[in-house]
Amino acid sequence: MLVDDPDYTEADFQRVCKIAKDVAGISMPESKKTLVYSRVSRRVRENGYNNFRNYLNFVESPDGQAELEKLICVLTTNVTSFFREREHFTHLEKVVIPSVRERARAGERIRFWSAACSTGPEPWSMAMSVMTVFPEAAMHDVRILATDINSEVVAQAASGTYREEEIEGIPNEMRMQFMEPVGQDSLRFTGSICKLPAFRVLNLNLEGWPIKVLFSAIFCRNVVIYFDEPTREHLWRRLSARLEPGGFLYVGHSERVVSLRECGLEQIAPTTYKKVG
Ligand SMILES: C[S@@+](CC[C@H](N)C(=O)[O-])C[C@H]1O[C@@H](n2cnc3c(N)ncnc32)[C@H](O)[C@@H]1O
Repeated sequence: MLVDDPDYTEADFQRVCKIAKDVAGISMPESKKTLVYSRVSRRVRENGYNNFRNYLNFVESPDGQAELEKLICVLTTNVTSFFREREHFTHLEKVVIPSVRERARAGERIRFWSAACSTGPEPWSMAMSVMTVFPEAAMHDVRILATDINSEVVAQAASGTYREEEIEGIPNEMRMQFMEPVGQDSLRFTGSICKLPAFRVLNLNLEGWPIKVLFSAIFCRNVVIYFDEPTREHLWRRLSARLEPGGFLYVGHSERVVSLRECGLEQIAPTTYKKVG
């Protein structure tokens, strides 16, 4: 073991792994042992414990629910950026939004979902794509649900405020159209675009999501890389069930849906799937 701390044992690491898997569906390979140590040891100290075992006893006790959520937050990886994997936004702008625009104008409800939104670049990029092709979208019943298991990143996403270095992926003309300066070195989204996203905490690993609507497009990108194969395929099936016929699922560049037929999906590009029917 790389970590030379007698208060962090193999049994402690295995316990953290089991919590991450049971609660969030996240699988932690042996190679994450040091990373887990560096992320969790701060929580151990901040809670006043001097070893992992006592801290984990607390987390798993009836009083430990709030700390369990904090533990899950430190175990998640939140790397993201604006217009990441640009081809999905191009497809959204060229194919999806033009196909739902008339329905929205006729008063229909149109929904999109960023299912692991992290600090928000994904749903805000979706919102900029929507506004670019359909500028009056916010006057209609068009919304983007943006969810993540990590309440801290969801709060950051909802603030819509980013430092200059975080918004490199946003073209200048879009910054001028949709953002305003705040403080020394930050910008925040402003105007009617802010009506589009709705931010919520949601664990994709929970059965029975409180979501009744069907979506025209779901972005679920760079999250199932942390899940094992059965958890991934189960999630694809559940996400597909929340797509309207002809709706689209976008996955991360290193992710694939294997059980296409069971999910009722057809692959139309390496990381883009269409709901059959
Ligand atoms: C690497 S980020 C990807 C963000 C964005 N989708 C993108 O591609 O840029 C992965 C996100 O998945 C979230 N996550 C991990 N497990 C989750 C779960 N069970 N339910 C919901 N979100 C989860 C993490 O909190 C993190 O914000």
